[in-house]
Amino acid sequence: MSGHPSTYEPKYAAEKWLDQRLPIIRMGADFMTFPSPRNLNYWWTFGGILTLCLMTQILSGIILAMHYVPNVDMAFESVQRIKRDVPFGWMLQPLHAVGASMFFLAVYMHMFRALYYGSYKAPRELLWIIGCLIYLIMMATAFLGYTLPWGQMSFWGATVITGFFGAVPFVGETLQQWLLGGYAVNNATLNRFFALHYLLPFVIAALVGLHVWALHHVGQNNPIGVTPKTKSDTLSFHPFYTIKDAFALVVFLLIFAFFLFYLPDSLGHADNYIEANALQTPAHIVPEWYFLPFYAILRAVPDKLLGILLMIGAIVVLFILPWLDSSKVRSMRFRPVAKWFFLIFLVFCFLLGWCGAETPDNYVFKLGDVGLTFYRLSQISTIYYFAYFLIILPILGLVEKPLIRPESITKSVLGSKAHVPAAAE
Ligand code: HEM
Repeated sequence: MSGHPSTYEPKYAAEKWLDQRLPIIRMGADFMTFPSPRNLNYWWTFGGILTLCLMTQILSGIILAMHYVPNVDMAFESVQRIKRDVPFGWMLQPLHAVGASMFFLAVYMHMFRALYYGSYKAPRELLWIIGCLIYLIMMATAFLGYTLPWGQMSFWGATVITGFFGAVPFVGETLQQWLLGGYAVNNATLNRFFALHYLLPFVIAALVGLHVWALHHVGQNNPIGVTPKTKSDTLSFHPFYTIKDAFALVVFLLIFAFFLFYLPDSLGHADNYIEANALQTPAHIVPEWYFLPFYAILRAVPDKLLGILLMIGAIVVLFILPWLDSSKVRSMRFRPVAKWFFLIFLVFCFLLGWCGAETPDNYVFKLGDVGLTFYRLSQISTIYYFAYFLIILPILGLVEKPLIRPESITKSVLGSKAHVPAAAE
């Protein structure tokens, strides 16, 4: 799995015995000595942070499931009971809810890092695609989980999202009923959502295993995107990157703890403290913040089916990105024009998130008779989102003149004084 020659030597007889039968210690040791590029910056710490987030979600989720009741008459109260009566429930429930937000925060950092440094390009296409699959399943898991507390947003969010499936031509209605287990969000829906919400994190964990396997097979990318050529271009993962990852993790946990202990409800919606009521639609149905850009894309067109297709398309383009970006240069550090288009892309992603949180008819600004509605802004942002992947990246790779890249990672870190030994490969 490690993709580099093993240096592990079993010392004791028991170690040797185990190594010949199941080289599990060897695997761990090889993981720790994995040669990582010596110039990795803090953007490369999010993979480790994400691993911790996944473990936190699974552990806190399992304990919550011991007290949660997936029944429409008891679900809402069981969550309130967890928060009030279950030992440490006051911390456990927000740990899971805030944890979901922190997980998405980290995954977005991780993804934007990959986009900026071109980590999706050859030979890491499959690593990137597995990442996209993880992201997709993370979204499904978060959506299913949000239904469980059975608050107003849970119920109406589930009603809106499952309603999309009804827009599929010919089979839509059947598909929607099959998903819901009836004609509306009801007890059968809550039960199946709970079952799937419990299952999917383990699918994610399995995919993370594949993700890291693929990573160790092809090796890590790095901020200059130049492939390591000699031994001096790399450092052993431990202690150099374990310590860097640990530091980043502590900073991340401080931010996590701040939200957990001081603002546990700030990332959620107040309406979810009202029990689900099928007869009372909330004034505004808004998804969690991490879905807002996609929600804005969905609402950017007046046609429901087209909106859904655009929203699905927004994720599909990520899967095919390695074949859309025609530039051979990985890191945007050496792509003077692409860098700016990337920054504009970032701004539009934030604008999409803002549009998703607002009522489309509201104005971003209004000067006399002229103004910009959130609806119009979401259309402009959606156009840029797709244009970035489908037009800008394919064309720019062909016409842009990249800057000269350093000869090697060692030279870029240590400058011209660096003594670079002869190539090891
Ligand atoms: C549970 C979620 C995830 C976990 C635990 C995870 C874990 C990791 C780890 C440990 C690394 C190596 C360290 C690092 O580069 O930060 C990594 C690298 C990578 N991940 Fe993920 N990942 C997750 C989700 C994603 C997603 C959603 C994507 C993209 C859609 C993605 C794309 C990548 C890529 C392209 C790399 C290679 C980076 C490079 O070498 O430059 N990952 N991931």
